[in-house]
Amino acid sequence: MFDRLKARWKVNSWSLFLILTTFALGGSTCARMAKWLIPADLHPGQPVWWIVYLILVTLLWPMCVLLISIPLGQFPFFKNYLKRIASRMAGKKTSSSNAIPRIAVFASGAGSNVEKLIHSPFNKSAYDIALVVSNKSTAPVVELAKKNNIPVLVLEKQDLENPDKLLKHLKRDQIDAIVLAGYLKKINPELVEAFPNKILNIHPSLLPKYGGKDMYGIRVNAAVIEAGEAFSGITIHLVNEEYDQGQILFQEKLARSADETPDSLAKKIQQLEHQHFPNAIANYLKSPIPR
Ligand code: GRF
Repeated sequence: MFDRLKARWKVNSWSLFLILTTFALGGSTCARMAKWLIPADLHPGQPVWWIVYLILVTLLWPMCVLLISIPLGQFPFFKNYLKRIASRMAGKKTSSSNAIPRIAVFASGAGSNVEKLIHSPFNKSAYDIALVVSNKSTAPVVELAKKNNIPVLVLEKQDLENPDKLLKHLKRDQIDAIVLAGYLKKINPELVEAFPNKILNIHPSLLPKYGGKDMYGIRVNAAVIEAGEAFSGITIHLVNEEYDQGQILFQEKLARSADETPDSLAKKIQQLEHQHFPNAIANYLKSPIPR
């Protein structure tokens, strides 16, 4: 149970201990305060006492946990936690409230971009990586997610054809948007439909050039060099039913050197991706998303 909580709240064991302590101290303090505030002419034998007590506890509890969370260093956690409760009580979906959009990152490989997204200052301020989805249980990105206490969903072969399980999981985790960071499988049309304009991908070329099926990894850079292009670059775009054909959101180009090899170009491209990906995601998610 503790492991599930750590993964859900993305905290380590020590923070979990402090959070649970805050809950316990906050709960007992607000129960005491509520009893103390009830007028003396009421007593627990009367139903009205219980009604007043419950109202007071409900009103005092957020204040108590917030105050107690300050000396225990857990204020940011409880601020977000209470925000989420408030937006759920208001019947709002997370994305339409002020809450930080929860994203699922899909990846199949090394995860260097996912690592940048995790350690970016935009994580937890402009987006919250709530889930990592991979089609490969042995991919380094799976280990990376676990190390950072991010829940992981590994897709089985049948889930790639039938996205029902995936869709249920994304709904249950209240995922607002999907980010593809080196995900090598095609995205099902059902997923595109369920997340309209809310799936982003990063591609290591200046699309529409050098995109499409089988254009991934080092092949892209090899094709750019082979064609004698003077420039290459990165593209961050929306995902639709066709490979690499969704609306382009951001591009950055770089000049290729005369003695460029696919590997040397890959290094430059990767640097560019790491530099711009978190920012591009943050910018897109903070602007109104067309439905
Ligand atoms: C990146 O080059 C990205 O453009 C492409 O897949 C690669 C992922 O690399 N879609 P990494 O796993 O993030 O290192």
